[in-house]
Amino acid sequence: MTDIALVTGGTRGIGAAIARSLKSEGREVAAIYHGDDDAAAEFRHNTGIPVFKWDVADETACRQGVALVEKQLGPVSVLVNNAGIARDGLFHKMSWDQWRAVLATNLDSMFTMTRAIIEGMRERRFGRIINISSINGQKGQVGQVNYSAAKAGVIGFTKALAQENASRNITVNAVCPGYIDTDMVAAVKEEVRDGIIASIPVGRLGEPDEIAQAVSYLASPKAAFCTGSVLTINGGQYIANG
Ligand code: CAA
Repeated sequence: MTDIALVTGGTRGIGAAIARSLKSEGREVAAIYHGDDDAAAEFRHNTGIPVFKWDVADETACRQGVALVEKQLGPVSVLVNNAGIARDGLFHKMSWDQWRAVLATNLDSMFTMTRAIIEGMRERRFGRIINISSINGQKGQVGQVNYSAAKAGVIGFTKALAQENASRNITVNAVCPGYIDTDMVAAVKEEVRDGIIASIPVGRLGEPDEIAQAVSYLASPKAAFCTGSVLTINGGQYIANG
């Protein structure tokens, strides 16, 4: 049976690279998106990967969306929780809306998406769940109290869920990308971005495919002994303990 992989935020940036990589290994992939219809249509056209639109922060939409994907493609065996947004600003100026939006999309989505899929994985005694955290969930970042809190939460979520599901042959791992050449990083003010690049020992931003290759490993049957881990890929910008 063909493996079915579902990638949230799968039509742009890191998620699109992950979707492409998982497809290139022979899986059927569903790419979930919420915002940019034109980018999704272009991605669909260029890759042949089906796209589905729903809000990963909406519990009902996730349950219904996953049911639709599974009806059309089959049971999901690889889930990549990648969808994320930033609403940067210093905390003393941050609004409740900035906080809620980031926590909902980046952390509530761990519950909504994974809850909709995990029971089937447990019944089938197989699953690969890969959660995209961030360097800023590990080290904290000025202007990103909301994002850093959500991404740190992703790491705790990963470690606990890994322990609960190891006996069912379901692995749960987190990947912490550093600053990657995506729209999200392009949105940072140029002078701030230059400073960020100067602080990366490798001397450049990462490429989306450099994250996708790691996700492909974690999604593979060969990674069966790797669970509850936090994989740091940041060009040496922050050397974390896990
Ligand atoms: N430490 C402490 N204070 C700082 C600071 C720092 N590093 N940088 C700026 N400030 C303070 C300034 O001193 C100033 O304070 P005062 O008013 O008291 O003097 C205040 O911030 C205002 O500075 P700005 O005029 O630059 O403020 P701003 O509100 O326009 O922007 C910011 C501040 C939101 C922090 C902005 O600099 C910013 O967006 N920084 C980038 C944040 C970032 O790295 N985002 C990552 C996006 S990519 C991503 O999220 C992907 C991923 O996973 C890596």
